[in-house]
Amino acid sequence: GKGAAMVTAVAYRLTEQARQIQQTLAEFRLTKAQLLEVKKRMRVEIERGLSKATHKEATVKMLPTFVRSTPDGTENGDFLALDLGGTNFRVLLVKIRSGKRRSVEMHNKIYAIPIEVMQGTGEELFDHIVYCISDFLDYMGMKSARLPLGFTFSFPCHQTSLDAGILVTWTKGFKATDCEGEDVVELLREAIKRKEEFELDVVAIVNDTVGTMMTCAYEEPTCEVGLIAGTGSNACYMEEMRNIEIVEGNEGRMCVNMEWGAFGDNGCLDDIRTNYDQAVDENSLNEGKQRYEKMCSGMYLGEIVRQILIDLTKRGFLFRGQISETLKTRGIFETKFLSQIESDRLALLQVRAILQQLGLDSTCDDSIIVKEVCGTVSHRAAQICGAGMAAVVDKIRENRGLDHLDITVGVDGTLYKLHPHFSKIFQQTVKELAPKCDVNFLLSEDGSGKGAALITAVGCRLRELEAQ
Ligand code: GLC
Repeated sequence: GKGAAMVTAVAYRLTEQARQIQQTLAEFRLTKAQLLEVKKRMRVEIERGLSKATHKEATVKMLPTFVRSTPDGTENGDFLALDLGGTNFRVLLVKIRSGKRRSVEMHNKIYAIPIEVMQGTGEELFDHIVYCISDFLDYMGMKSARLPLGFTFSFPCHQTSLDAGILVTWTKGFKATDCEGEDVVELLREAIKRKEEFELDVVAIVNDTVGTMMTCAYEEPTCEVGLIAGTGSNACYMEEMRNIEIVEGNEGRMCVNMEWGAFGDNGCLDDIRTNYDQAVDENSLNEGKQRYEKMCSGMYLGEIVRQILIDLTKRGFLFRGQISETLKTRGIFETKFLSQIESDRLALLQVRAILQQLGLDSTCDDSIIVKEVCGTVSHRAAQICGAGMAAVVDKIRENRGLDHLDITVGVDGTLYKLHPHFSKIFQQTVKELAPKCDVNFLLSEDGSGKGAALITAVGCRLRELEAQ
């Protein structure tokens, strides 16, 4: 009768809805062939960044770091380190002791950088940084010592030496004026002079990937790659000097900061980018830039999820078709929320509670869909990040003329460390796409602080050698 027809109609609408949702998510589910293609394209961009003829227009910049060796245990002394560009801004005191009972002792303090400082003038930003250093030195009672400092500055910098780095472009949430094209070490030195309270010896500028690699290499000498999967996404590795055409000399190796977040900025990933990726890019501070990073790092995964949820809501599949103010708010789904939503131990009721906290009223069905959307987006992120890493380790293997490579990758970043599935999917992907490499992943403990100090220690020793 009529009732049965209505039940059928409802059931049909539900299956049709489920089909359409799956169709939407299918775009995010990449095949092995597609992932191999991502790996191959990354390799092409790596070569373009390394070669002198194409370096200028290359998207993956392959920036020389002037770090020529990993630590050997003889590093020693007290160092100050700054960590700018990750989730928190920190100032650290790092005490490294060499010898039989080598050790690293660290003290640090976290400081907030208000958004109006991140996006104000460069002078304001650097004055704020120096203000924080001043507070830290007071706190430690060390204002009179002229300490050597390592500056972990996690943005693309064109380096001509260990202690000079011209900011190529801001990435992530930063946009302070008058910094791009400037040597940020000089900007820091000038701000210290303006304050007239203390002196410091800025010895090294360090990318967070490099700090991470160095920290892990201190414990494990086979570590010659660094990875950050956090707010941003990037990697570095020890490349043969002969392949780094923009630096003089052919002997030995140098660490290269890949700046792989910009992979795809020339359109080479357009076939796998979805309309949602496009929307995230258009909504960002740096449209058209860091396209790979926008598909696989913590700062943007939640934004992709939000774009999909908006679309599904508009199509009437979610939240009773009502787009709330919350859903219109940029940045609501931070990595920690995605990680909670995807946690296997969490009952759906708890997923609903999290959505409720965010201000999203959901039904049980809504929560199932939201969880699946999150899972699909982070799965793709881990896979394409893995495809990039597969290109790197295979490149190192070929550099060394090996059929088989054993190597360690030092890793840091909130996405890698907090997310319940990212690291596993990432590792599986590397294994599948680079079968000739045995890759060991080592979590770095505070790479940005410790690594900067280790690099500063090496820098100080080299200076002493030069002075002799
Ligand atoms: C962004 C920065 C890069 C950094 C990465 C991880 O991609 O451009 O320098 O290493 O984020 O923090």
